[in-house]
Amino acid sequence: MPESTLFIGLMTGTSLDGVDAVLADLGAGAPRVRAHIHHALADELRQALLRLNASGDDELHRAAIASQHLAHAYAAAIGELLQTAEVEPQDVRAIGAHGQTVRHRPEAGYTIQLNAPATLAELTGIDVVADFRSRDVAAGGHGAPLAPAFHAAVFRAASARAVVNIGGISNLTALPPLGAEVPVFGFDCGPGNVLLDAWALEHLGEPVDRNGRWAAGGLAHGELLLRLLDEPYFRLPPPKSTGRERFNGDWLRRKLAGLALDARDVQATLTRLTATVIGDAVERYFAEAAQVIVCGGGAFNATLMDMLRAACAPREVLASDALGVAADQVEALAFAWLARQHLERRAANLPAVTGARGPRVLGTLCPR
Ligand SMILES: Nc1ncnc2c1ncn2[C@@H]1O[C@H](COP(=O)(O)OP(=O)(O)O)[C@@H](O)[C@H]1O
Ligand SMILES: [Mg+2]
Repeated sequence: MPESTLFIGLMTGTSLDGVDAVLADLGAGAPRVRAHIHHALADELRQALLRLNASGDDELHRAAIASQHLAHAYAAAIGELLQTAEVEPQDVRAIGAHGQTVRHRPEAGYTIQLNAPATLAELTGIDVVADFRSRDVAAGGHGAPLAPAFHAAVFRAASARAVVNIGGISNLTALPPLGAEVPVFGFDCGPGNVLLDAWALEHLGEPVDRNGRWAAGGLAHGELLLRLLDEPYFRLPPPKSTGRERFNGDWLRRKLAGLALDARDVQATLTRLTATVIGDAVERYFAEAAQVIVCGGGAFNATLMDMLRAACAPREVLASDALGVAADQVEALAFAWLARQHLERRAANLPAVTGARGPRVLGTLCPR
């Protein structure tokens, strides 16, 4: 019997909004998503994961327990996914499980994604590939971003394209035209939704400024925007990667010191910051891009998309849906693809992106 071409990709990103699970057919031709579900994280687990982003009392135990809870959330998402698609676990070749990043310290030689692949293999009866970032870090890289190789596999075209994933953090993949000699490269631009979500929760009592409606009624504040843009990370040359350890509520509070602003204007300014940082990254490092393809939850924020169009003009800005992959499925699909790369022992990091010494096979396998 030929081996199954069905893979599951699981993504839980910096936003901590929930698990994105896709079931994809990675046979010949373009990847085809058979089913996608978004499984919200229980508030208790979300809070536990958030707390684990900083050091604290008894954190090893708390991390181990949170990992177990995550594995159960993943398994629940997969159960739902397989039921929707009417597919049996034994028909799935492998799961690519990113895990939840709680520390990212490539300069210290490590990056930590909480995960429990052994438990997930037990619960699902499916091979699990996990810990995709460590090998790249071991090879001197940042271990991030990892999606660029996948973006290149599915979105590269005859003209130059920038792919921008707007999750908690935003990252850019520069795709030179097919056949061009220059390598694909990419890096984390800076904050994506992470500050928008934090501010909306604090002042709107909602986890998300849905569709950017709240920000749409505010005005970006010039002085605050200048302060926000005055951040050494934005001036660092790539390769570079970042996360909540840099862009968080404390960072924002420091920038707001002494300013008395309407909360809605702050939200508008934060939205503008995300757009500006991405627009500057495109302009500075990939000005030849003719199109900017947006994926990740940020694609659903209409105000952000409008600001991004202004920041990237005259380039065309469009959601990845226009290219056949729904914006909220791209990252999870990338981890299904990365699992396949692992099983086929193909390298999946791009040294021009991560700064690693060379191409490496990513991930570790936990057989079912
Ligand atoms: N309808 C929406 N309106 C505004 N923002 C949205 C919407 N849907 C999703 N988002 C944003 O996208 C985030 C989730 O994006 P996602 O790509 O899953 O990021 P991550 O990979 O960091 O989890 C949410 O936290 C929210 O900020
Ligand atoms: Mg998410």
